[in-house]
Amino acid sequence: VHVIPVPLGPESYDITVGAGALATLPEVLARRCPAARYAVIADTTVAGLYGDAVRAATGAAGPCDLFSFPAGEWNKSREQWATLSDAMADAGIGRDGAVIALGGGVSGDLAGFVAATYRRGIPFVQVPTSLLAMVDSSIGGKTGVDTTHGKNLVGAFHQPRAVIADVSMLRTLPGPQVRAGLAEALKHGAIADRAHFDRIGELREALLALDPEALEEIIARSVAIKADVVADDANEAGRRGVLNFGHTVGHAVEAVSGYGLLHGEAIAIGMAVEATLGTAMGITSAGTADRLRSALEALDLPTDPGDIPPDAILEAMAHDKKSRAGTVKFAFLKEIGQVARSGAGAYTFSAPENLVRAALAR
Ligand SMILES: NC(=O)c1ccc[n+]([C@@H]2O[C@H](COP(=O)([O-])OP(=O)(O)OC[C@H]3O[C@@H](n4cnc5c(N)ncnc54)[C@H](O)[C@@H]3O)[C@@H](O)[C@H]2O)c1
Ligand SMILES: [Zn+2]
Repeated sequence: VHVIPVPLGPESYDITVGAGALATLPEVLARRCPAARYAVIADTTVAGLYGDAVRAATGAAGPCDLFSFPAGEWNKSREQWATLSDAMADAGIGRDGAVIALGGGVSGDLAGFVAATYRRGIPFVQVPTSLLAMVDSSIGGKTGVDTTHGKNLVGAFHQPRAVIADVSMLRTLPGPQVRAGLAEALKHGAIADRAHFDRIGELREALLALDPEALEEIIARSVAIKADVVADDANEAGRRGVLNFGHTVGHAVEAVSGYGLLHGEAIAIGMAVEATLGTAMGITSAGTADRLRSALEALDLPTDPGDIPPDAILEAMAHDKKSRAGTVKFAFLKEIGQVARSGAGAYTFSAPENLVRAALAR
């Protein structure tokens, strides 16, 4: 079992990664998140698979109730936030209660936002069950819901008291979800650690076969990279922007696909396109885009937008830009393992539309 600290002053917490890590939940709750009553929040799929085990572990620390919502990104909504908050109030959970966010990124973001707002904020613990949630979304304290205007448009920063990633819970995760999670792990290697990037390639077969040791190694390293970036810049003023590599194009592709693509698949396409764009702009070194594409393809991840029209992607990026009242910004690689700086402490670039178009049309 690996324990990775996220040093955020009074909001510091530990991420525990390992097969069987769930067994530490009662002790972690007692020490880091004591409460009069616990609300375990999970989508119906994960509640069916792991609800009983997590309830039993939570119950060892205090009384607990399980609240579930239907699985799927479209349920990361204000409506589900309201339903869950009301159900917790009906169950009599007070200011001295706490939330256990159990599941993938949808459950983590939604349950985290319930915790951030319920009675002006109660503590919560993340128990991620998808690979994407283990390597990425459960760390960093971003919580929220989607609206018709876009993803994650209503939310709050609310750091968990602890994250417990039990890799044995991944044994039921469908293959495409495993590959989508590996896309974000590759991103961590691409922006910060070339050895990690290469190691994912070396362990490819073991990872796809859900070998616990291989998973543990890759998740622990990815988590350490994300924790390091987040600890540097918890509220996303500067360096945290590097985590957005692949996400300017990726989010647009994801939105245009009507969420037909998984987040990690859209990010795989986004990373490949942004690496090509960075090369055309003279920022990303020659060969980097090809190395990235090969690594993604080895994991059966997509690397180009296919039949999604470039105009629709450009429009989705512009829409995103409008909501931030700025220009479309990108984070670029210098090479595998290193992001490019645009200035002192700055990591974002704008790009001319003709070059974006050319990268999309490659
Ligand atoms: N907060 C952040 O920093 C952050 C970062 C990245 C992504 N996200 C968010 O995360 C979400 C995507 O997360 P996701 O891919 O985990 O989606 P998800 O939560 O919808 O999980 C994917 C699917 O896998 C199922 N599942 C989860 N764990 C399982 C298991 N162990 N066995 C079987 N099935 C399981 C779920 O029921 C769901 O159907 C998006 O909403 C994205 O915006 C947030
Ligand atoms: Zn992402």
